[in-house]
Amino acid sequence: MIYNSILETVGNTPIVELKHVVPKDSPHKFWAKLEYFNPGLSVKDRIALALVEEAEKRGELKPGGTIIEATSGNTGMGLALVSAVKGYKAIFVMPDKISEEKRAALRAYGAKVVITPTSVEPDDPRSYICVANKLAEITPGSFLTNQYHNPDNPKVHYERTGPEVWEQTEGKIDVFVAGAGTGGTVSGTGKYLKEKKPEVKIMCPDPVGSILYDLFYHKEVRTPPQPYKVEGVGEDMLPENVHLDVIDDFVQVDDKESFTMTRDLVSKEGICVGPSSAMALVGAIKYSETLEKPSNILIMMADSGRAYLSKAFNDDWLRDNDFLPSPMKFTTVKDLLLKRGKDVPVISANVDHNVMDVVTLLKDHGISQVPVFSGDKLVGVLDETDLILPLATGKLKPTEPIIHLIKGAIVWVNTHDDLQSLSELFQKGMIALVKDESEKLHVLTKIDLLEYISQHMSV
Ligand SMILES: Cc1ncc(COP(=O)(O)O)c(C=O)c1O
Repeated sequence: MIYNSILETVGNTPIVELKHVVPKDSPHKFWAKLEYFNPGLSVKDRIALALVEEAEKRGELKPGGTIIEATSGNTGMGLALVSAVKGYKAIFVMPDKISEEKRAALRAYGAKVVITPTSVEPDDPRSYICVANKLAEITPGSFLTNQYHNPDNPKVHYERTGPEVWEQTEGKIDVFVAGAGTGGTVSGTGKYLKEKKPEVKIMCPDPVGSILYDLFYHKEVRTPPQPYKVEGVGEDMLPENVHLDVIDDFVQVDDKESFTMTRDLVSKEGICVGPSSAMALVGAIKYSETLEKPSNILIMMADSGRAYLSKAFNDDWLRDNDFLPSPMKFTTVKDLLLKRGKDVPVISANVDHNVMDVVTLLKDHGISQVPVFSGDKLVGVLDETDLILPLATGKLKPTEPIIHLIKGAIVWVNTHDDLQSLSELFQKGMIALVKDESEKLHVLTKIDLLEYISQHMSV
């Protein structure tokens, strides 16, 4: 089929079932609706077209007019595309955290871009919303599309996205998941789906740092808004287009989870979406664990990963922000045991030992904790910190038995557990027990981990 204009290709985006980034044993289906198949590469093309067409109908936007919007980029892209095709001028105001690629793309369509500081209050005159309002006031023939408060935004999702999802899933959808920026997608699509099938659950994943979660659960902001790196979703104010009454649940997702999933979606599913889409999926997976019945979960994936090459797909940026998984995530207890060699003697104390025996043992082997056995049964752990200060202050005598000092901080681990989780156990003062393939018992302490890191993981 040949379209009359690029604008006719907005919508009807494909849905793909995810197989490799979701839990293997999950009874649920995870369906990703890929909005980057829109001509401006995001879900926002849908509202861009609708906001302009509705304004034209009302006579608020006339030929030669200027479209102004406070946008995190994607709505700008949609509006830039619509303006280019329909012959309008366009000015976009956005916070400085928005990636350089997004700004450059808007300029390519002939739009003007105005950058404002991210870390200011929403009612600060320098905030991107206030600056856009001011520009609209002083620009003759301008139309402020006002995506946060314009009811035409949720309306087009109600009239178009909702029916599209319903038809594509043949009504088999049980959970609809969409992050809220303006709230248009979740409110409009959610309302339509609930009308068709009241038992459909509408879940809104929210970045840690946004206030929407608090507003939904507590009707007030308990944790003040914090900056976060995922773009386009979550808020530090409540837009009129976020209709909390349509939403059944919110799930919080942090930046690290979102950026890790962004990379997994490309490398394991071949789906290159932005961090807000990955955030929505992480939220969907967490939410799915609370569902009683096997469910079909549709996740709106708002935009393309191509807009985030300098962030989500740049290892230096990820490392600077502490979003890269540590190399210890990819190394397991089995690797450690293999490298350690089979016949490492277990340095241990016996319940019958006295304090001085154990201090000598720690000193001779240069270790700071030992497992304590009673015969061949492991009963606990002794740590140097439990001995040195009490000895120094005279609260403990060298000849005292150790039995009352033993801590039960022992935990069983598996050979396939990663070293990151092992180190977290050690940080809590635990000692790990593991059985290898031949059922031989090994005791692992933080010294084993330190030795492994120093010998095999040096950078
Ligand atoms: C990347 C991205 N994801 C999700 C959304 C959320 O969509 P909505 O504004 O309909 O709530 C936006 C909105 O700006 C976005 O830019």
